[in-house]
Amino acid sequence: DKGAYPFYMLKEVDEQPAVMRKLVQKYFKDDQPQLDEKLLQDMADADHIYIVGAGTSYHAGLIGARMFERLTKTPTTVHISSEFAYEQPLLSNKPFFIFLSQSGETADSREVLVHVNEHHWPSLTITNVDKSTLSREATYTLLLYAGPEIAVASTKAYTAQIAVEAILAKALGEFKQIPEAQDFALKQQLGIVANGMQAITDSKDKIESLAAHYLSKPRNAFYIGRGIDWSVSLEAALKLKEISYVQAEGFASGELKHGTIALIEKNTPVIGIVTQDRTAGLTRSNLEETEARGANTLTIAARHLAKEDDTIVIPDVDPLLTPLLSVLPAQLLAYYTSLGKGLDVDKPRNLAKSVTVQ
Ligand code: F6R
Repeated sequence: DKGAYPFYMLKEVDEQPAVMRKLVQKYFKDDQPQLDEKLLQDMADADHIYIVGAGTSYHAGLIGARMFERLTKTPTTVHISSEFAYEQPLLSNKPFFIFLSQSGETADSREVLVHVNEHHWPSLTITNVDKSTLSREATYTLLLYAGPEIAVASTKAYTAQIAVEAILAKALGEFKQIPEAQDFALKQQLGIVANGMQAITDSKDKIESLAAHYLSKPRNAFYIGRGIDWSVSLEAALKLKEISYVQAEGFASGELKHGTIALIEKNTPVIGIVTQDRTAGLTRSNLEETEARGANTLTIAARHLAKEDDTIVIPDVDPLLTPLLSVLPAQLLAYYTSLGKGLDVDKPRNLAKSVTVQ
């Protein structure tokens, strides 16, 4: 039931702080995540983690890979399930597979899992749906506890996936006695994230007017960033595309000048995501380069990196967790752009919530 909300998507965006708190409650005992020891042992024995997913779940995997590499020192790669199913990379000797799927029913991902099971490789499904196909067929399951996600555009499942990946990376890193994981105060950080999400969802009016001003007319738009901000820009662009039908691209900001900047013309919206110390200045100069060619730029910046004329400032959190906050303004920009065009936000054309065909 969407209650007083005009669309499920807005309700689901607003539920994100509660989902973060729920995950802390479900997975932590005191300050430590409590996960199945067998799962952690199987993962510790692996020499490579393969993350498999589609769409938004693939995008959540891009964030997770950074966490697994940094906190567990396990090489990790992320794969689009429909690609992996038919053309596998050369696999390592002891692979461990993580399937990310909100529904647990995505046919492309299942195709990969069937192959994984034929080889008796260990696997984990991270899903919102208990006893879904991918959950039943994998060795292990971790649930997202996000509650039913009804809107076609995934929002709270994306942030829940990232939070569960963080919990798993922290637990595995602790298990392997990796200092970076031991020093990562994840439980406390997830509390900060929940409050930060709340602050962003409380600023809807501002984001609604930004959407009207910047995104209501143009036919195309860019999200740009570097590193983890680039990964978020892919998800931010997907949200805008699927519900507002603005052709949007998420782009590695340094790569723009190698060709794509030719597409920038007067009033093209270019939204920069700036949350990382090492790359903030670089992304800002890339934004300026587009502005010099007529782009209408907006910045989503972490508070400690913010400048006076930044459009949207988000609270500071650990640099690995910034996607949990930086994606929210993008979800809301997409929502209000779609709403402003009078579209059916929850049921965009040509799309189904669960894609059970290949
Ligand atoms: C986009 C969206 C899709 C799904 C994709 C995978 O908002 O929802 O891109 O993420 O179809 O679905 P699941 O996660 O159910 O495997």
